Amino acid sequence: MGAEPLEIHLDEQDVGRGLRDDVRGGLTARPRWLPPKWFYDARGSALFDEITRLPEYYPTRAERAVLADRATEIAAVTGAKTLIELGSGSSEKTRLLLDAFTRRGGLGTFVPLDVSVSALRRSTEQIAVDYPGLRVRGIVGDFTRHLDRLPTGGRRLVVFLGGTIGNLLPAERAEFLSAMRAALEPGDWFLVGTDLVKDPSVVVPAYDDAAGVTAEFNRNVLRVVNRELGADFDPEAFAHVALWDPEREWIEMRLRASRPMRVRVLDLTVDFARGEELRTEVSAKFRPEGIAAELAAAGFTAHRFWTDPGGLFGVTLARADRPAAG
Ligand code: AVJ
Repeated sequence: MGAEPLEIHLDEQDVGRGLRDDVRGGLTARPRWLPPKWFYDARGSALFDEITRLPEYYPTRAERAVLADRATEIAAVTGAKTLIELGSGSSEKTRLLLDAFTRRGGLGTFVPLDVSVSALRRSTEQIAVDYPGLRVRGIVGDFTRHLDRLPTGGRRLVVFLGGTIGNLLPAERAEFLSAMRAALEPGDWFLVGTDLVKDPSVVVPAYDDAAGVTAEFNRNVLRVVNRELGADFDPEAFAHVALWDPEREWIEMRLRASRPMRVRVLDLTVDFARGEELRTEVSAKFRPEGIAAELAAAGFTAHRFWTDPGGLFGVTLARADRPAAG
């Protein structure tokens, strides 16, 4: 049947404007920061793929173990007609769900949403080939902006995997969950993957691997800004830093200037002192009771919570079963 044409809610101009706004806001703030969404050009996405295979990076394997174990149950409990995936990327782990829904029957449509046209084009075509009879409708969009564009009707299951929800700051997370709830009807389902709080001796190496792949991934954001906005960052002059924050229970990635530097970008002149840091990512780690509370505050009920055998990573199946707050 083939994938349907992509539905585009985000064009290159929107993306360019978003990057310029983020660079202007983040590089003039103290401390300086850049949001993690800008890591993922073709090279950044390839580096992230490599990260998921590193011995130190446990989240991908742990989440895959949960899904392999629970996909049949998820298909049975939700009885979804439409499966929507936010930030789908390659949809590799989602195939475990698609396989389970295929065995069960009844799933009609798969709707991956991603900012990357190229990633979506590849994944939708491949999934349409591998799951004949499934309607595949890719949406080009940003899950922090376009939840109101999701298809309506039929029992829906929205999945948000990889622990990506942890890349949102707490206020952004609350806003995202409310928007998610507002986009759903009572009886619809939300499946969310969250990395769990654990000893920093396990978390820190996952974000600072021995082979230096995460360091390259981190510096890649500077290459993106150089290419897209004509900045003159010297990425090699920034050291990769991964820091566990025990109060906020998140890990931060930073880039530390190894010498004083002057960078020109847009109409800005940005001076870095030696040792000055630029924050590039927050990756929050969760406790089961915290996840349930955040979901409840947004109008969801956590229905099931599963972890991998090592207890490293959590997957929560939540139901939208009362009217959205507000
Ligand atoms: C998979 C996007 C959630 O926070 O673990 C991997 C990306 N950053 N190594 C994460 C990431 C550093 C990431 N997400």
